[in-house]
Amino acid sequence: GAVTPSEGPLSGRRVVVTAGGTREPLDPVRYLGNRSSGKQGLALAEAALAAGAQVHLIAGVMDVPAPAAQDRLTVETVETAEELHAAVESAAAAADLLLMAAAVADFRPADYAEAKIKKTDDGTDPVIHLQRNPDILATTVRRRAERGTGPTVIVGFAAETGDAENDPLDLAQAKLLRKGCELLVLNRVGRNLVFGQDDTEIHILASFGVQGLLGDADPVHVVGTKQEAAQAVVDRAAQ
Ligand code: CTP
Ligand code: CA
Repeated sequence: GAVTPSEGPLSGRRVVVTAGGTREPLDPVRYLGNRSSGKQGLALAEAALAAGAQVHLIAGVMDVPAPAAQDRLTVETVETAEELHAAVESAAAAADLLLMAAAVADFRPADYAEAKIKKTDDGTDPVIHLQRNPDILATTVRRRAERGTGPTVIVGFAAETGDAENDPLDLAQAKLLRKGCELLVLNRVGRNLVFGQDDTEIHILASFGVQGLLGDADPVHVVGTKQEAAQAVVDRAAQ
């Protein structure tokens, strides 16, 4: 249908947002999943819409229902990392901005059992072998470099707890370099922190190239609601 003209820093821009977690099937009734609620991704889609963008939301598994399509918003649902990869690949070519907020399973069961796995009494319990999923973000960055098409700005999201040796900010800095994206949003997480909660604490790190372009090297630090965090990410990406 006809699209209403929009105003805002992302007016006329195409934004792809991935949200929620992936689900990797093990047998017809079981899967490996993660704790992503989808709230941050949804907030990002809303912030991008409010900034005037044309938004394509690729929704994985979420605690909250995916929104219905509306003016300037299209919605596609996926379940596995491989489905998400295919969806991002086809949407990325025409996108100006990719916000990769989805929690992608790093591994999937190597073998899918066509029939439900049953207990046996011979003393052998099943072992699940895992196979690595494609790195969607890194692949999108690499394809852009190879083909010269793809989002101008690619934003990665990293949930880090840190550990005895590593500060979360240092881990995020290393991840930003490794992924090759323009911005990386660090979320500090613990078992009960951030996942599913409405409040969040983020740092938005910029690549060296982007720091040079913006003349501004310091990570943006936001403590607030996921809506406030999303607003800050969209503002930074629009810059
Ligand atoms: N990501 C992706 N494809 C994957 C894994 C992650 O595109 N197979 C994206 C996520 O959507 C996120 C970013 O990469 O935007 C960082 O995810 P994260 O899990 O923190 O990075 P990993 O490279 O998987 O590192 P780790 O081993 O710390 O999980
Ligand atoms: Ca991961």
